[in-house]
Amino acid sequence: MTIRQLSMELGPNYKEHNIIGYSEKISEVVSIAKTVAPTSLSVLISGESGTGKEVFAELIHKLSDRKNNKFIAINCGAIPEGLIENELFGHEKGSYTSATDKSRGYFEVADKGTIFLDEIGELPLSSQVKLLRVLENGTFMKVGGSVNVKVDVRVIAATNKNLPKMVAKGSFREDLFFRLKAVTLQLPSLRERLSDIPVFVMKFSADSAAKYNRNQLIFEKEALSEIMNHHWKGNIRELKNFIDMLTVMETGRTVTGDVIRKYIKTDHSSSYLPMIMEDTHKDADLIFKTLLEIKSDINLIKKFILNTYTNKPSVPFYEDPGKSILNPEREIVPTEELSEKDEIILTLKKHRGNRRKAAEELNISERTLYRKIEKLGIEL
Ligand SMILES: Nc1ncnc2c1ncn2[C@@H]1O[C@H](COP(=O)(O)OP(=O)(O)OP(=O)(O)O)[C@@H](O)[C@H]1O
Ligand SMILES: [Mg+2]
Repeated sequence: MTIRQLSMELGPNYKEHNIIGYSEKISEVVSIAKTVAPTSLSVLISGESGTGKEVFAELIHKLSDRKNNKFIAINCGAIPEGLIENELFGHEKGSYTSATDKSRGYFEVADKGTIFLDEIGELPLSSQVKLLRVLENGTFMKVGGSVNVKVDVRVIAATNKNLPKMVAKGSFREDLFFRLKAVTLQLPSLRERLSDIPVFVMKFSADSAAKYNRNQLIFEKEALSEIMNHHWKGNIRELKNFIDMLTVMETGRTVTGDVIRKYIKTDHSSSYLPMIMEDTHKDADLIFKTLLEIKSDINLIKKFILNTYTNKPSVPFYEDPGKSILNPEREIVPTEELSEKDEIILTLKKHRGNRRKAAEELNISERTLYRKIEKLGIEL
């Protein structure tokens, strides 16, 4: 299939917005996103893990007048509770011991742009009051500050938690909930958009083949039915990882129902390795990546030993994490050229300050990344 044919098959949502799938459910969400994007209304995106909440937040930003300004994604669950206000709103000089300078928070940095507050249910109650105020009148005070700062920031929030339940329990402010839910995008799970699964499989297998330098897999009808019948708890992310894994592991080009059954147990209670479950999908992503990287490291060590014994110039032990790890043509960067600090700064820049994505690429947890940023004195 040519790229042109593929993009025709992927339908109008993909051609216009890079959104895979054209089931009624997802087309409805695309249409709401298009309608609200040009306004500055705050949007609450809810949906199970891996359903595309961040993808839609970026789409709304791209379709708005703010598209040429910043889009900053913040995972509220990844920032230690005591530091979140500092991160969001900045601090005044001398407000706490290490605050040696006036620092700008994300709300100031994202002025005229969009802030995406992922896992909003994790925001501490004390910070929820401050967020409500920014949403109401665009003003806030820095930590330790006494003057109001005014900004023009659009807020998009996302959650896979049941916020009404949290409101009932008193762990989420009702006023903030009502303010946020004015426009709600409810992303369907994969189970609710089964007709999109073949398109996802086709696109992901084409992408995986290119990424891992493998042949593109061809799926028999029965294989597709097995995939459609499986309960993908991690939704699109889990399906994408599964296709990556198949592309790397399967030597035959044609995927039969038996092949899929080999990896998926049909009792829906357990599945292949790496196992991706509702709350641990990020760990599973990391395990999968780490396994692939270990494989690549072993290859490098083999090359190094071979080169040492045959007196050929040796291969440095560092690879650009942005390159495909299974592609033998990948570019290799010597270790000495990049310190840990440089590597973190470069990775953060590459992901426009998105710590979750940077941590994923660096193969460390977000909290570890956060600690390293503090320890190495990285200013963003
Ligand atoms: N409609 C789509 N078209 C193409 N790719 C998609 C689509 N929706 C999601 N994806 C892909 O699925 C993966 C998960 O998407 P995303 O990170 O936006 O989900 P999420 O709902 O924010 O997940 P989480 O709750 O775990 O944060 C990403 O790799 C993303 O690129
Ligand atoms: Mg997300």
